[in-house]
Amino acid sequence: MSPPAADLSPGFAHRHILGIEGMSPADITALLDLSEAYVEQNRAHEKKSSLLRGRTVINLFFENSTRTRTSFELAGKRLGGDVINMSAESSSVKKGETLIDTAMTLNAMLPDVLVVRHPDSGAVKLLSEKVACAVINAGDGTHEHPTQALLDALAIRRRRGRLAGLQVAVCGDILHSRVARSNIHLLGAMGARVRVVGPPTLIPSAIERMGVEVFHDMRAGIAGCDIVMMLRLQTERMQGSFVPSVREYFHFYGLDREKLAAAKPDALVMHPGPMNRGVEIDSDLADDIDRSLIREQVEMGVAVRMACLDLLTRSLRSNAGGAA
Ligand code: NCD
Repeated sequence: MSPPAADLSPGFAHRHILGIEGMSPADITALLDLSEAYVEQNRAHEKKSSLLRGRTVINLFFENSTRTRTSFELAGKRLGGDVINMSAESSSVKKGETLIDTAMTLNAMLPDVLVVRHPDSGAVKLLSEKVACAVINAGDGTHEHPTQALLDALAIRRRRGRLAGLQVAVCGDILHSRVARSNIHLLGAMGARVRVVGPPTLIPSAIERMGVEVFHDMRAGIAGCDIVMMLRLQTERMQGSFVPSVREYFHFYGLDREKLAAAKPDALVMHPGPMNRGVEIDSDLADDIDRSLIREQVEMGVAVRMACLDLLTRSLRSNAGGAA
């Protein structure tokens, strides 16, 4: 299968993809438009191209992941690249090697792209300053998770035809969520209006500065919204107790059909996964293909990651004589 035309996204001038903050609406649109072409490739019988033939992608994960790691792996392989997976569990990180030592070791093996997830905010940027290859942030602490926001935007845009003017409620554990932060940047840049909804303990102070409206009541927060995006309670990042009990949390902030009735009649429900059924979201609603975009979000994840790998390696291909 031939790769999408090389002139689909002129002017994407980033060496790394570390966050949505700092990306222009044109950059975001270029990535989303290119992703559309990869949705088609992924739905075709022959899913593989040779765009990344001879290129090496290393997935370096210092935190657990199912869909992000798998979809980056699939994305690299569907583009014909060689993909290596490394997790902190099985690497020398366990023996006390620092982030930078690990980065320098991998750098010496001359990869073309490093995809990095790390529990500390800012760690991926630090690493990008030490290596010669392109770096993609697959989630750093509570800071950013740019490819998640891009895949969310792609899923919304495909169903609603646009992002501008939509009213989006991001609900739950905003405080610990890099997904929330990247989505707030992206949706704001693309002209959507964003609300954050959750208990005061899980909303960062001064989040209004990011251009969002804050609600502590779920029904009021999602009233009239086009999109209701639920977030996981990130207990692994909590020190101490942020919610009284899971039961009580679901009662006030869990999304079920009754609360969803406050949103627009055709409002769509999203969740980045992994979801805690019966904690953030009612199980039956999560599986309702008319209301829930959750399955599509996962599908869009592969396409968006292919687009990111494609764009970041374009300069390598043109340096090598335009051998796309
Ligand atoms: C998110 C993450 O890791 O930040 N998950 C994901 O990438 N699909 C959200 C989460 O872990 O709750």
